[in-house]
Amino acid sequence: MKNTPYPNLFEPIRIGNFDVQNRICHVPTDICSANADGSINDRVITYHEEIAKGGCGFIICGAATPDKATGRPTVCCIAVDEDPLIPGLASLAEAMHRHGAKCAVQVQHPGRQAAWPRKNLISATDMVVDIPGSAGHEVIYAEGAAKGKAIRSMNVEEIYDLIEKFGEAGWRLQQAGFDSVELHGAHGYMIAQFMSEYVNRRNDRFGGSFINRMRFVLEIINRIKLKCGKDFPIGIRYSAEEWLEGTRKLEESVKIARLMEESGIAYLDISAGIFEVPGPTMDPMYYPEGWNTYTAEEIKKHVKIPVITSHTLRDPDYCEKILAEGKTDMVGLSRQMIADPYWGNKAKAGKKEEIRKCISCLVGCWQESLMIKRHMRCAINPAVGDERFINIAPAEKKFEVAVVGGGPGGMETARIATLRGHSVTIFEKTGELGGAILCCCTVHGKNKMRWYADWQRRQIKKLNAEVRCNIEPAASDLKGFDAVILATGAKVARPDIPGIDLPLVVSFEDVLRCKSKNCEYYPEDKGVPAVTGDTVLVWGDHFGAADTIEKLGYEGKKVYVVTENMEFAEWMEPCHKDVMVKRFAQSNGEGLKGKTFAKPVTVIPNTSVFEIKKDGEVVIVDSSFKRSTLKVDNVVLGWVEPDHSFYKSLLEQGVKVTMIGDLKKVRNLRGAVTDGANIGLALDKELMLNANNGLIANLPTGIEL
Ligand SMILES: Cc1cc2nc3c(=O)[nH]c(=O)nc-3n(C[C@H](O)[C@H](O)[C@H](O)COP(=O)(O)O)c2cc1C
Repeated sequence: MKNTPYPNLFEPIRIGNFDVQNRICHVPTDICSANADGSINDRVITYHEEIAKGGCGFIICGAATPDKATGRPTVCCIAVDEDPLIPGLASLAEAMHRHGAKCAVQVQHPGRQAAWPRKNLISATDMVVDIPGSAGHEVIYAEGAAKGKAIRSMNVEEIYDLIEKFGEAGWRLQQAGFDSVELHGAHGYMIAQFMSEYVNRRNDRFGGSFINRMRFVLEIINRIKLKCGKDFPIGIRYSAEEWLEGTRKLEESVKIARLMEESGIAYLDISAGIFEVPGPTMDPMYYPEGWNTYTAEEIKKHVKIPVITSHTLRDPDYCEKILAEGKTDMVGLSRQMIADPYWGNKAKAGKKEEIRKCISCLVGCWQESLMIKRHMRCAINPAVGDERFINIAPAEKKFEVAVVGGGPGGMETARIATLRGHSVTIFEKTGELGGAILCCCTVHGKNKMRWYADWQRRQIKKLNAEVRCNIEPAASDLKGFDAVILATGAKVARPDIPGIDLPLVVSFEDVLRCKSKNCEYYPEDKGVPAVTGDTVLVWGDHFGAADTIEKLGYEGKKVYVVTENMEFAEWMEPCHKDVMVKRFAQSNGEGLKGKTFAKPVTVIPNTSVFEIKKDGEVVIVDSSFKRSTLKVDNVVLGWVEPDHSFYKSLLEQGVKVTMIGDLKKVRNLRGAVTDGANIGLALDKELMLNANNGLIANLPTGIEL
């Protein structure tokens, strides 16, 4: 393939009886956006159509249930269990075919991991599970405690009934015009439950020996072939390593690969993990590019059918390299396509810098959507689940807009507003754009956040927004603007306790802010580290505090964490938390090879700081008012709070002003970016403040203010 820096990535490939134009695969991603009955709607079509337009060769739509009465992986997954669903599925296939992509749907019964129903779940074996990182985790009500979900083993009649339902599902997808069907044998869902020596404790023909554990999936393959003909390509996804004691290792996965090839499977989609260990299953930020490639590389040595590798693939250079080296036949991208569905086109054109790389935060696509039974969103791509952002129209009326604060919310406002033709000036008090994201650059395992900051900064430059650094504007500086967007974030909280102003007390920003000499945006070296001693107390458990603990723990310091909350970082995305807590205990997330902490992190919940003394003695007080002391070298303030005084004064002066991001309400990156994007769209027409002091473009004809 000529005219691209990535000839291997854009080399066609044959899978079963169809040709794919390139080596890019959208690995199955349940977007939990179908209708409540599992039928296809415009949102599902648009999501996949954009990926097809974006140049992805082979799109495997996420988990679709063959029997919604007994199991849906997410509450709004696609369903393939009734014939009246076929026309909608056909429209979905057509939308992808229109743009040259080939497509499949992954059929999955969640078994023990069903998000719905929540009770009376079926599986290969009786068990009780609570898997906090999974979308099917036990729902624990506000005043309740986790008990675990009781799961019931299927009898043989039920197993054959489900096999038949898988067969019917395959047939419906063929009828709808899909090029292939994929079986979901990964991540501890039903097929994986049968395949797994760890989960499957049956002693009949569906459990025990290797071949008995494979019988369920083999029967499904046979049933689909019987209904669809032997040429209809069937793929299978499974985890090459499940990363838990007693679960599958690569050796057995090679055996499975051979068996699947013999059984007429057309391709292998090699994944990782079982949900008991969410790290390798869902790859939080800690996981490096291509950490799972070695499994496909090994499996590929033993089969002739195409092998797809996935998990944290973001960079076209890396993807090209593993294809060129013969380690895989295709590269599988899930979250990268959520963050930027046009990855393929951008890579082909050699515009790698234009790719909005997924930062693996799992906030929009998992924590704040599938896990809590909502439609999928994305922290950095506001167009996912909100189609208003796909084809952004120019504003009818152009404004002069001031954005105060160049963090993620401010940058997103500026990006959307300039795209729409407004003239934007960003006022940033530091020497560079990036805001709170820049605190992550210095934290081991978190520096993917930097990718987003850099991408935004390039966009801002390209779109010619004016950036004025090292300035905190006064009201008079903002007078000439049509609208003022305050995006200054939250400030470090400094509770009024004895000792708060001592030099040994520093803020998380002092510890985390990037001070690299090599950073193109931050050329001066700011010298002395904020934390000078070896023993540190971090007060708080929000983002800044958590990142500070990571940084200091990684550097070998002894860290105590004091939080008024009952549990450390309850807000944190659970897959990240699983890995982080393991790191606190001086180990690592499964599949990670990085340095571990020299000293364990000690979390002291339900407690506050009462007094800090000059010699580093810190008096803490628990929820029963019991006092104790700790001796430390530094105290790091990790709580933040918004300060609305400037906003209120501007409002009183009649300025059309609005707050976004953490200044409005302390949340996370997704909160800030979504606010910024929404304001970028609201800047139009009559531009007014409504009775909530929200900026709106207009009201219906005849309704005037
Ligand atoms: C929102 C979301 C939905 C997912 N749905 C599925 C699914 O339906 N089937 C599946 O096999 N894997 C699913 N996965 C796992 C991904 O396919 C992929 O293996 C994982 O996210 C790691 O790869 P990535 O770094 O390319 O995202 C899902 C992941 C996410 C984040």
